[in-house]
Amino acid sequence: MIEGTLVRLRAPRAADLDVQLRWRNDPEVVHWATGGDPRFGPITRESLERFHDAQLRQDPRVEGMFIVEDLADGRPIGMVDYRDVNPFAGQVTVGITIGERGHWGGGYGSEALRLLLGHLFGACGFRRVELDTWSGNERAVRAFRKLGFVEEGRRRSGVRVGQRWYDSVLFGMLSEEWERLTDATAG
Ligand SMILES: CC(C)(COP(=O)(O)OP(=O)(O)OC[C@H]1O[C@@H](n2cnc3c(N)ncnc32)[C@H](O)[C@@H]1OP(=O)(O)O)[C@@H](O)C(=O)NCCC(=O)NCCS
Repeated sequence: MIEGTLVRLRAPRAADLDVQLRWRNDPEVVHWATGGDPRFGPITRESLERFHDAQLRQDPRVEGMFIVEDLADGRPIGMVDYRDVNPFAGQVTVGITIGERGHWGGGYGSEALRLLLGHLFGACGFRRVELDTWSGNERAVRAFRKLGFVEEGRRRSGVRVGQRWYDSVLFGMLSEEWERLTDATAG
């Protein structure tokens, strides 16, 4: 368990299937999380069961997922994950979805991602963490920049959202940048 001031990250449980099913069938969540990518949602219980079973059996050296809980009442509000680990280069890709709309814009997602970064750079010793979003997701872009991610490139028209195309924006952070940020906060 990894705890901040607004949220904690905890390992997924079998009972989290229902809440994940709700988030991934909420069109607004699917829209903001992926630009409406049908691989994310809507999703049937049967499909999610297979995915969820795999999540419960993940090898944390290779990939992992944490449920984000609101510290105020202990309820799940979203999820963060890491994947595509490259142990040779020390690289990993992360993702975040706060699934409870009422928690958007309240700093919960930013803190959850900060806690995940602390875990990946600290306990896991990664050299580089990356993530991406689509250029229309201003809240995500602002949150990632505020956390200290550097915009490293764009895949032009890489994301289709309905009948429009947006850039896929790639962000990265290096371990020394993370250390500078945390030293500055501590000092
Ligand atoms: C994107 C997400 C992780 C951001 O986390 P958050 O805790 O909600 O974000 P914050 O409250 O820290 O806000 C981040 C910034 O966005 C701004 N913001 C909030 N709502 C906004 C909106 N509707 N439009 C534009 N900017 C907005 C905030 O003011 C803040 O900027 P500032 O610090 O410069 O004022 C979270 O909202 C989320 O998971 N949303 C749904 C799914 C999603 O978009 N996932 C990301 C896909 S890569």
